[in-house]
Amino acid sequence: MTLTAITRGVSPALNRCELGYLSRQEIDIAKAVRQHQAYEECLRELGATVISLPAEPDLPDSMFVEDPAVVVAETAILTRMGAESRRAETESLAAVLARFRPLRHMREPATLEGGDVLRAGSTLYAGLSRRSNPAGVEQLANELSSFGYTVKAVPVHGCLHLKSACSYLGEQTLLANRNWIDPGAFGGLRIVDVPPQEPHAANVLAVGGTVLVAKSFPFTAALIERLGWKVRTLDISELMKAEAGLTCSSILLENVE
Ligand code: GLY
Repeated sequence: MTLTAITRGVSPALNRCELGYLSRQEIDIAKAVRQHQAYEECLRELGATVISLPAEPDLPDSMFVEDPAVVVAETAILTRMGAESRRAETESLAAVLARFRPLRHMREPATLEGGDVLRAGSTLYAGLSRRSNPAGVEQLANELSSFGYTVKAVPVHGCLHLKSACSYLGEQTLLANRNWIDPGAFGGLRIVDVPPQEPHAANVLAVGGTVLVAKSFPFTAALIERLGWKVRTLDISELMKAEAGLTCSSILLENVE
């Protein structure tokens, strides 16, 4: 098994990013670039081959490569993003994904962003958020059913994406802020609540047996460690001003050799 991570450099226009639930704060672009490079380096240390695409000067949010695509072993589905300003991000990402997976495309009236899609085994939970609509969830389900995946819709309230509210640690365990989603939507998964003093900490990235956690959430890092996972903390404080978490800055592709 090999692991490839697709990333993209920080756009110099990141200060013009979309914001859903945060007030705008000035982002130090040089610092954001250093934080993103440390993230890429961490993925390399965890065994990934990182394909780092060049920054897009005219596309502020383009480093958040998770959103224009949903990738499973059999296909990459190019989404139709809810944020219209972001739709031009898809083309160059598709060119890279086509080297790894057959491509499929979502169509109007669907909107869906990859940040709203959480996979746990053969089940994909799809957030109904300001960015992703019922037609998007339905198209995702139709595209994936022939491969044996089940897609379940999950209403999201109070945060940008489903994966702002929860992420999958592995071993049937979900880290979640239950104020933003109904945990009952996740069937048999074990729910671990983020510590109350860290409501924004539920977006973590599991890479193999290691979980990447934002450095600004020490209680969450300690909690995940107590549960038995290895934890790496990363400073993404500048990127968080653009409403970023750990999942949104990469697409991870597992390939059997
Ligand atoms: N700034 C991330 C997004 O809104 O898509």
